Amino acid sequence: MDRLLIQAPSGAYHLHFGPGIWAELGELARSFDGVVVVSDQNVAALYAHRLPFPLCVLEPGEGTKSFDQVARLVDQWAELELSRYSLVVALGGGVIGDLVGFTASLFRRGISYVQVPTTLVAQVDSSVGGKTGINTPRGKNLVGAFYQPKGVFIDPAVLKTLPRREITNGLGEVLKYGVIQDGALFELVSRSIPAFYQVALDVVGPVIRRCVEIKGAIVAADETDWGLRRILNHGHTFGHALEQATGYRVYRHGEAVLLGMFLEARLAHYLGLLPAASLREIEAALLRVQLEYRFDQVDKQTLLRALGQDKKNRAGAISFILPREIGKVEEVLLSAAEVEKFWDEVMGA
Ligand code: NAD
Ligand code: GLY
Repeated sequence: MDRLLIQAPSGAYHLHFGPGIWAELGELARSFDGVVVVSDQNVAALYAHRLPFPLCVLEPGEGTKSFDQVARLVDQWAELELSRYSLVVALGGGVIGDLVGFTASLFRRGISYVQVPTTLVAQVDSSVGGKTGINTPRGKNLVGAFYQPKGVFIDPAVLKTLPRREITNGLGEVLKYGVIQDGALFELVSRSIPAFYQVALDVVGPVIRRCVEIKGAIVAADETDWGLRRILNHGHTFGHALEQATGYRVYRHGEAVLLGMFLEARLAHYLGLLPAASLREIEAALLRVQLEYRFDQVDKQTLLRALGQDKKNRAGAISFILPREIGKVEEVLLSAAEVEKFWDEVMGA
């Protein structure tokens, strides 16, 4: 069995890869004093039979990451008589992983949980690193905790049942790892976009493994996101602003990150940080992904207002993680006026 150790300061755990994860997890689960699997309707119908334990099935979708669902899960786990020595299995995408991790951090002041991520986003990003949380009417991921799982079990083959749009959604995060830390990974993924849509496991499997290796090292160095971990926000400043400016109705998060990377690469070039040849490579890769967008439909003032509310802003400046080359990024703080000047000169008024 292929494994990778994540050495988070609050506790080390393994990432397990490949088709053998189901049997391995089944065996691990039997050593706990009670087990429950939590999933959503789509994923449960496809994969819950592989983990024959009591099951809580939730509605798919972002609305499930709520205080109401936390309360319901707590009730169900208490009814199942889960103790402090029991295990919760989060089987699904980032919605299930974030909600279950957060609820696990609260139940009996903290119960063990493992992640079985089933989307590309969850396999390369959300299942690793212990960020858990829910949404409230006042904000996405407004409430949460850093709470590491006891293990992450990744079977890339489950991506074969994923809708195409969810592959696009995950490709944003995959390309991001290349831009922030690994030029060779970027080049490989850029050449292999069709292999992702076909879920060609000989390509997709090793790429997922490399992405979580990068994320695991970043989390080990900065678990609680005050330093190095912030480089994972490349593409997210413009990305979040686009999501917010379009009422979270137009783009999935990963799609917005893809567009954010596009804009931030242009911004880096505009500021003289990124050479023209690297900008062309980044643009070419992003244009190979199946995503429709029209920047001329973005209202500049709405976008600037959204940028002004970004949680990473410091001392009145907007924080961007910008590439200097493919594989190397740095934080740049800009005023709203500087961003507006870029938008007018490069993206059109
Ligand atoms: P998701 O969990 O909503 O899943 C997307 C859709 O795919 C759902 O309808 C789901 O039922 C379906 N699905 C999942 N796996 C499937 C499979 N194998 N086959 C068929 N259908 C499948 O979306 P997501 O993109 O995985 O997660 C988004 C969430 O993750 C957001 O709430 C975001 O805030 C969070 N997130 C968290 C982190 C973190 O570090 N904790 C990082 C990135 C994103
Ligand atoms: N998804 C960004 C992080 O885990 O920090």
